[in-house]
Amino acid sequence: MRFETKAVQAARETDPITGALVPPIHQSATFVQEEPGVHKGYPYGRTGNPTRALLERAIATLENGRYGLAFASGLAAEDAILHLLQPGDHVLCCDDVYGGTYRLFEQVRRRYGLEFSYFDTTDATAVKPQKNTKLIWLESPTNPLLKIADISAVAERKGNALLVVDNTFATPYLQRPLELGADIVVHSSTKYLSGHGDVIGGLIVTSNAEVYERLKFLQNAIGAVPGPFDCWLVLRGFKTLALRMKAHSENAQAVAEFLSKHRKVERVYYPGLPSHPGHAIAKRQMNGLYSGMLSFELKGNVKKFVQATKVFVLAENLGVIESLTTHPATMTHASIPPEERARRGIKDNLVRLSVGIENAQDLIEDLQQALEYA
Ligand SMILES: Cc1ncc(COP(=O)(O)O)c(C=O)c1O
Repeated sequence: MRFETKAVQAARETDPITGALVPPIHQSATFVQEEPGVHKGYPYGRTGNPTRALLERAIATLENGRYGLAFASGLAAEDAILHLLQPGDHVLCCDDVYGGTYRLFEQVRRRYGLEFSYFDTTDATAVKPQKNTKLIWLESPTNPLLKIADISAVAERKGNALLVVDNTFATPYLQRPLELGADIVVHSSTKYLSGHGDVIGGLIVTSNAEVYERLKFLQNAIGAVPGPFDCWLVLRGFKTLALRMKAHSENAQAVAEFLSKHRKVERVYYPGLPSHPGHAIAKRQMNGLYSGMLSFELKGNVKKFVQATKVFVLAENLGVIESLTTHPATMTHASIPPEERARRGIKDNLVRLSVGIENAQDLIEDLQQALEYA
């Protein structure tokens, strides 16, 4: 089956009791046992829930992996992965990641004895695992600079470490890291997977049985699990994922081309532009569509610009049907110290756009009028 069909089929299961086409939401904290330890696979709602189990099977199908696990947020999923490690272990991470990921690494997990270092996302030859390197962590495309990592080239250099890929920006419709040699895929399902901005959630997929068993244990032992209704909303999002990603990508391409010719725009970061340094790899790795995320450096006043848009809304999220603007330096990446932000190339005049599924011409006209105020 092709992706579009799989996405619709994986997210549904006819209810054996009522025949309901849309799966029920099993909004129950616990499940009745016939005798101690005898139940239908769900002893308690933190350990497992049928709606969550459907979501876990569905994301595994979409990523072409064997096992899925759902968490209360993208960061909860990331933290569960870090719990695979022990004090003294090292994580080799690409140099452009979501600010919250950086904060989790540097301000939380470093205090528990994990070591982190960073390499140039765009240079797979810079991946040189140390003896104690247990994880190699990639985002591609990255947040907020849309850098592209060559996932298979990094996989070739991973040695004994596990390769984790945050696939939030691309989604499995555009990119499937497990097929490129990754061991673990992680998502913020808050974004494109649910797609409508009404859920906070995280997902993990792996085909490694040992890693899965440990993560499943951690999911229950730590307890950062999503509620059944949130799982159901993500499942509903899967059914339209392909359609939405096409629309997001086409709109973002049009917006990127418009911005790259505008006199008030210094530089546009979008992998769909042939001038983008990662374009050739993205073209091969991402199915020829480049998602709805782009950033640009503004020649003008950022505050005036973000306040002047009428269709684009200033908000700290991405991957939802509405178009959003974000100022990484003061919003999504504020937890990275200013000197470190500057070193990574996240300038104060950088604006990030999450391009929605509205009419492309309306989006361009909105940006055009707002740029006049900037
Ligand atoms: C690439 C990426 N990964 C992970 C996260 C964290 O996800 P959540 O906000 O669901 O915890 C985000 C959030 O913006 C993100 O952009």
